[in-house]
Order: sequence, then structure tokens, then C-alpha cells
Amino acid sequence: MLAPSSAETSSIEPRAVRSIVGWLVLAGAPCAFAQSPSAPRFAPPNLTPAGVRALAANCAQCHGTDGRPAPGSVLPALAGRDARDLAQALLDFRAGRARATVMDQLAKGYSDAEIAALADYFAARGR
Ligand code: HEC
Repeated sequence: MLAPSSAETSSIEPRAVRSIVGWLVLAGAPCAFAQSPSAPRFAPPNLTPAGVRALAANCAQCHGTDGRPAPGSVLPALAGRDARDLAQALLDFRAGRARATVMDQLAKGYSDAEIAALADYFAARGR
């Protein structure tokens, strides 16, 4: 079989090259995520009291307002629990070390600092 002539190899259109480069960039994107399993850092955390209260409000739909589930709920209470236990549970969910139905996904949205602030917030609530 004949080797391709130089005329053939030099006839690659710039558009084709651009699309190949585009595919290589896209193919590399998941690798970038795989290297950084920690929470996304697209916004600085708002750890003011109001900011933490707003973060904690994300948990209310399941764990109840201020971490006190509605009577009869099967979901765990967060209010008045040990802060270290709460933070550890969230870190374990985020790292995929703890079995979960939803918390493993939800925990991925929070940085270490936000998890610590959430744990302190709920620990400080009365039961
Ligand atoms: C969509 C419902 C839902 C939301 C929203 C939610 N959780 Fe959970 N949470 C659960 C469920 C269900 C479990 C039990 C583990 C599982 O199946 O994922 C759980 C378990 C936990 C646990 C472990 C408690 C224990 O005693 O083992 C912690 C801590 C926790 N959630 C914290 C939070 C925090 C903090 C937020 C808000 C940032 C939050 N959750 C938002 C449903 C939710």
C-alpha cells in the first residue's frame, strides 16, 4: 500500500483541526473534575450569620426548620447534635464513604468551610 502523498496530509482543513482540538478539550474536562473531588469553588462562601442561615435553609425541606423534622418524620434531626458528628457525617457523604440515598449528592455542593459552619449552626440549635 502506498503512503499518503504529502499533498493529502497537508490538505487538512483548519476547521477540522479546530474541531479536533475542541474534542480533545472536551474529552479532558471529566479528568479535571476527577482530580478535584472537593466541592466546587465558583463563589466565595458567605459565612456571615445570615449567609449560614441561608445555607441551613437548604436543609429544611427534609430535616425541618432549624434541623427539627416534622413530627412523625423518618428523617434524622440535626438540631442540638454534636458539631463534629454532623460535620463528619457530611464529609463522609461527600467523599462517598457513607451509604446514602440523597445526602452523598447534596453534600457535594458544600465546601469544607461551609460544612463546618452548617455543623456549628445546627449544633447550636435547641432540640
Ligand atoms: C432532599 C432531602 C434532604 C435534604 C434537602 C437534606 N437532607 Fe440530610 N439527609 C436526608 C436523608 C434522606 C438522610 C439519610 C441518609 C440518606 O439516605 O441520604 C440525611 C442524612 C443527613 C445527615 C446524617 C444524620 C445522621 O444522623 O446520620 C446529616 C448530618 C445531614 N443529612 C445533613 C444535612 C444538611 C446539613 C443539609 C443541608 C445542607 C441536608 N442534610 C439536606 C435528606 C436530606
